[in-house]
Amino acid sequence: MTGFALRTTGLVRRFGDLRALDEVYLDIPYGQVVSLVGPSGCGKSTLLRCLTYLDPPDDGFIEVGGDWLGRERLSNGTIRRRSRRDIDRVRRKIGMVFQALNLWPHMSVLDNLSVAQRVALGRSEAEAESRARALLDRLRISEIADAFPGQISGGQQQRVAIARAMAMDPEILLFDEPTSALDPELVGEVLRLLKEFAQSGMTMLVVTHELAFARDVADRLLFMDRGRILADGPPQQVITQTRDRRVRDFFDKVTAFHPKFMQAAAETEDES
Ligand SMILES: Nc1ncnc2c1ncn2[C@@H]1O[C@H](COP(=O)(O)OP(=O)(O)OP(=O)(O)O)[C@@H](O)[C@H]1O
Ligand SMILES: [Mg+2]
Repeated sequence: MTGFALRTTGLVRRFGDLRALDEVYLDIPYGQVVSLVGPSGCGKSTLLRCLTYLDPPDDGFIEVGGDWLGRERLSNGTIRRRSRRDIDRVRRKIGMVFQALNLWPHMSVLDNLSVAQRVALGRSEAEAESRARALLDRLRISEIADAFPGQISGGQQQRVAIARAMAMDPEILLFDEPTSALDPELVGEVLRLLKEFAQSGMTMLVVTHELAFARDVADRLLFMDRGRILADGPPQQVITQTRDRRVRDFFDKVTAFHPKFMQAAAETEDES
């Protein structure tokens, strides 16, 4: 596949006078792993919600795998709103793993993974189940297929949520702070999993506070502040070489807070 898994043009989301997204331009090629960081309230979650049309943007355009989501701009410049049905079709190409896990509590893990495949993609029960089992296997949680979400650990729930998003074969997977609700020992586990996906060529946009992930796994790091992307480039370069004062301040604070961070990153590099 060539081209972009995701592309946004001048995306705007307003809440009253606040521009939570203030013209976001973003192109993500297939296979790229992008980390998004920025201070609390800068618009990261709003961006992910707009990208999935859970919260439609007020202005701008989104393209997923070359398909317009919500609004389209024709070659003669005309702007058209697309039908609800069409929006539902295109947004299915985006997988989202939320920070607050939202597994259905009354369904087994296997059903959590199968239902949307059957309803939204029209897969047969056997097909959906076989895809679900393959993913559980891949995420090393096949033993919990018949358990209910309340019976499994936080780390397992997080993996089920990831498997559920992947079961839909999305063009791109979005993660909103996938490790923030986890105990420290589970953080490493989920990060390793994301690293495996990255290596298998999955396109991902990951909002994270784990700078080590951004630094060691992502191909690209975005820094957002007040609804705008202020820095965009190879992670190491964005972290250490940005001139913009707001970006510098942010990374200075984070690296001062985690003094071992840059050192650990350097050691990882030595090993490889
Ligand atoms: N539904 C809403 N109504 C009004 N304001 C909102 C709404 N959702 C978000 N906001 C505001 O938009 C801004 C961006 O919020 P958002 O949740 O995207 O931040 P964030 O970068 O994800 O922060 P965090 O790191 O704390 O998760 C904030 O000022 C927030 O208060
Ligand atoms: Mg958020």
